[in-house]
Amino acid sequence: MLTKWAVPSLKSFADIATERAELARLTTFGIGGPADMLVEPRNLDELGRVMVTLKEACLPWRILGGGSNLLISDDGVRGAVIRLCGDFAALEFDGARVTAGAAAPLARLVDECAKRGLSGVEGLVGIPGTVGGALVMNAGGRWGRIGNVVESINVLSQSALGGVRVLSRHDAGFAYRHSALGSEVILGVALALCPVDAATVAETTRGYLDEKRRTQDLGSRSAGCAFKNPPIGPSAGALIDTAGMKGACVGGARVSSLHANFIINAGSATARDVSALIKLIQAKVLEHSGVALELEVQLW
Ligand code: EPU
Repeated sequence: MLTKWAVPSLKSFADIATERAELARLTTFGIGGPADMLVEPRNLDELGRVMVTLKEACLPWRILGGGSNLLISDDGVRGAVIRLCGDFAALEFDGARVTAGAAAPLARLVDECAKRGLSGVEGLVGIPGTVGGALVMNAGGRWGRIGNVVESINVLSQSALGGVRVLSRHDAGFAYRHSALGSEVILGVALALCPVDAATVAETTRGYLDEKRRTQDLGSRSAGCAFKNPPIGPSAGALIDTAGMKGACVGGARVSSLHANFIINAGSATARDVSALIKLIQAKVLEHSGVALELEVQLW
């Protein structure tokens, strides 16, 4: 455990680092213990210096995006949690090409594209989180995934201080709810979109959002779909539903009555409650349908 500035070199980051930082408030579940240290670099220079310092001090680190597909342990996280902010939240438009920083909220990206009549990310509407997190998980659904519109991705170079490496869409290894980007520090992305008219994109986006609002528990504290859909056969939601698990509870964690693949923090759920409910769902679905559900939510 880090004690008060146990690593002297981290003192120089006092204005962007918080010790024993609460993480629950930075997740959509609203669950999780503290990080030994939360560091919030505002630009590439700060990020580069933070990474070098952490490396020299041999401190473990993780990158936190929007915390929307994440269950953090009640005991919290050892080492440093890095949350990009400032310059990393920028969105820049150049015709049908959009450059988005890793910390840009996905919702803002979708909204700005709709306003400009740029088609390609409508299906991401209603998904919380950041562009960086969306890239790592290849966020999306029935109406498209973010990987489909990626042109290139900027990641932090592991060798040079504050250096940038450019990856192609191919390098990113996008698949269903998967990418090869998990070990990279994503800085931003260039997306190639399709110019259409603003009214059409806005209408399509609204239609998708209406459908998600009708079928998903968007207003509740959750991490979206808890499990990946199996490669063949019924969806995870349908499997959990037919196993009779809608409304099932462990402590403060509950299976949504609207969409069975959503686990809700119905009050004061702990990570332990959610984990126990996850195991219960997996056991019931295996017993009922013979399918071993794979977790989509990331565990820290
Ligand atoms: N279904 C049930 N009971 C339920 C939920 C669903 O029977 O409780 C049935 C539906 O009636 C439908 C089928 O299951 O026939 C599929 O359901 P839905 O259309 O809601 O889509 P999904 O496969 O459950 C996927 C993504 C969502 C994404 C939507 C829409 C996964 C695990 N989920 O859901 O992504 O928003 O498509 O595109 O791939 C997420 O990953 O967090 C997420 C919410």
